[in-house]
Amino acid sequence: MTSHTPADPLPLTSSRAGALNGRIRVPGDKSMSHRALMFGAIAIGETTIRGLLEAEDVINTAKAMTALGADATRGPDGVWRVQGVGVAGLRSPAQPLDFGNSGTGVRLAMGLMATTPLTATCVGDASLSKRPMGRVTVPLSQFGTQFETAEGNRLPLTLKGARNPVPVTYTLPVASAQVKSAVLLAGLNTPGKTTVIEPTPTRDHTERMLKGFGAKIAVEKKADGNHITIEGQHELKAQDLDVPGDPSSAAFPMVAALITPGSDIVIENIMLNPTRTGLIDTLVEMGGNITIENRRLAGGEEVGDLHVKHSQLKGITVPAARAPSMIDEYPVLSVAASFANGVTRMEGLEELRVKESDRLAAVEAGLHANGVTTRSGHDWLEVDGGGARGGGTVVTHMDHRIAMSFLVMGLASAEATKVDDSRFIATSFPDFTGLMNGMGARLKPAA
Ligand code: S3P
Repeated sequence: MTSHTPADPLPLTSSRAGALNGRIRVPGDKSMSHRALMFGAIAIGETTIRGLLEAEDVINTAKAMTALGADATRGPDGVWRVQGVGVAGLRSPAQPLDFGNSGTGVRLAMGLMATTPLTATCVGDASLSKRPMGRVTVPLSQFGTQFETAEGNRLPLTLKGARNPVPVTYTLPVASAQVKSAVLLAGLNTPGKTTVIEPTPTRDHTERMLKGFGAKIAVEKKADGNHITIEGQHELKAQDLDVPGDPSSAAFPMVAALITPGSDIVIENIMLNPTRTGLIDTLVEMGGNITIENRRLAGGEEVGDLHVKHSQLKGITVPAARAPSMIDEYPVLSVAASFANGVTRMEGLEELRVKESDRLAAVEAGLHANGVTTRSGHDWLEVDGGGARGGGTVVTHMDHRIAMSFLVMGLASAEATKVDDSRFIATSFPDFTGLMNGMGARLKPAA
């Protein structure tokens, strides 16, 4: 939590709403925002970023880059400017770097720092301090980086960057864009070629954006997966970047409109990178009336406007292979599933156990509290459709996506839903409540 976050939990309720209507924009993409700040920090020259997500997770990354010597500031025009220091230019911060709630922030920053001879301590909030860091410290140690971690490879940790890093070839043991990115970023200040082998494709913003910054990066598709190779110790060139809307944030108004009778909304300027659009594919397969209008290319990414109308959904099986392209969207998909006809089965959900909360457990508990029947295993979940009764209180476990998902549920359930704490919504979508209420939702502080 940052200094401006209220100290006490902020419970919110969401009540049955009439039709949702309007044209809206959601904040900038979180994955791209973290990367824009970090790559700008090690480029030569001034990087400008328009549309940066100004939410706690990303602000913590901006502060970390400034503490590492690459000043990142917001101009009065809303444009962020990062003064890059070069691939070998980061220096030891005077204070511990606080990444708050953000796994992406800390794991990518660890990669960024790993091959520069600096010392940095990384800390986070109670949720981030429970999450596994071994998935990053193990490959980064192969470059020669040293770590002192809390019990079980967790935060807080102190990183000592390698003075004479050696290049690494690493096959990802989990489908994680964060791990892939951490290794590639460590490769940027390492002589020779660093390769990541990715058996299952994950979001590729690091590859695309680094290419834009002029990195020597190549992606080869082979039988055992994508081989991504970076040639180190070449400088990057500052860029002028535009960050489109976050599909993972658009997911909430999208599902809200699908389940609330009479709704008809347009969500403008959403990033449609194919490694991020699994939820749209799934909802369309479930019968969702979603059309993509005004498709275009912006800043190296596909972008479009999502036109969404209320639809009677039907249950389907969502295959494990689709999980990486919608990994953050299962909580809100589970809410959509509870209003579908029939059963929705989701497979390949293992990674949900190590997100901001154990999302599989938190979703199931929230569904049960609101009268929805489910079955689950270690990596799968089945949700019975037919509509949610509501009336329950959901424990959010410091997880923004659990809070937003169950506030969406309340718009279409028979009785209001309540979330025990909405403060963490500020980590990714600060004006969620205002934006939803502006379309006709009824979200308000709990009495
Ligand atoms: C992200 C990767 C995903 C995702 C997270 C953002 C990224 O995490 O859940 O919200 O920006 O690289 P994993 O890499 O752990 O799957």
